[in-house]
Amino acid sequence: MDSRLKPNDAVIFIDRKGRRYLKVLKPGLKLLIRGELMADSLVGIEEGSRVKFSGGETFLVLRPTYADLVPHLPRTAQVIYPKDTGPLIVWGDVFPGATVIEGGVGAGALTIALLRAIGPLGRLVSYEIRDDFADLAQRNVATFFGAAPNWTLKRRDLYEGFDETAADRMFLDLPEPGRALEVAARALRPGGVLVGYVPTALQLKDTVDALQANADFGQIESFETLLRHWQVKGLSVRPLNRMVAHSAFIIIARRLAAAPPPEAQAESTSPWSERAEESEDEDPKR
Ligand SMILES: C[S@@+](CC[C@H](N)C(=O)[O-])C[C@H]1O[C@@H](n2cnc3c(N)ncnc32)[C@H](O)[C@@H]1O
Repeated sequence: MDSRLKPNDAVIFIDRKGRRYLKVLKPGLKLLIRGELMADSLVGIEEGSRVKFSGGETFLVLRPTYADLVPHLPRTAQVIYPKDTGPLIVWGDVFPGATVIEGGVGAGALTIALLRAIGPLGRLVSYEIRDDFADLAQRNVATFFGAAPNWTLKRRDLYEGFDETAADRMFLDLPEPGRALEVAARALRPGGVLVGYVPTALQLKDTVDALQANADFGQIESFETLLRHWQVKGLSVRPLNRMVAHSAFIIIARRLAAAPPPEAQAESTSPWSERAEESEDEDPKR
């Protein structure tokens, strides 16, 4: 990738105190941060340069990383926290070329992460019930990811069903993932991974209860992530006073193949369809 900035690049300006301002280098646009600077004047300079606004203040200019971008993404719904995106992609086992279903879309923060992870050979189909959120997600993907010919956005209630079958992975970031299990089972291939993301303990319990009661799913895991930033400044080497104490719970389950015929079932009360059974004593290396 060329370091030199291009028209329509998203960039982040960082001031001396570390405050960040997300802007897009639209041709002819006057950028305003306690002074002004024409977006066109940045075209051709290298990211990582220092630039001066008319107010006299100097800012570092960089293309945003995903973690820089998400907190500044235009939004109306709560977006996925960047601290959770990595674990979602890894535990959800998204790979280049995967066929992934996502619902709901919100501002499109997870959509962007999924498009990056599946690459140009993958396919992403996203379901969103609200037109205003779908419009915003479309704008955010176009602005902060770019053209995505392998992304389809369907403006629909996903509880009514998915058009796709044999999807590899599915991500549900909406209030009641447990309500979607029947339609999710029809859309996922055996071995597929279902990922739920819910903010409250009651939603976690409802979702896991529903998964445990559904023979199409097994190998259920639930976890949350805690990320603590550290200050490393001279002799002051310590955790920052503030952190995001809670964002949401992540629930992972595998789509199982059809159950064996009744005569074979006597043998298997299917421990696999239940939770990775009482694993308190296991060393949770992953
Ligand atoms: C928390 S937001 C998703 C945020 C998104 N993952 C992101 O990173 O920006 C939840 C979204 O689910 C959508 N939603 C809720 N119920 C839905 C349904 N039944 N079908 C489709 N979308 C739904 C909401 O409109 C909202 O946009």
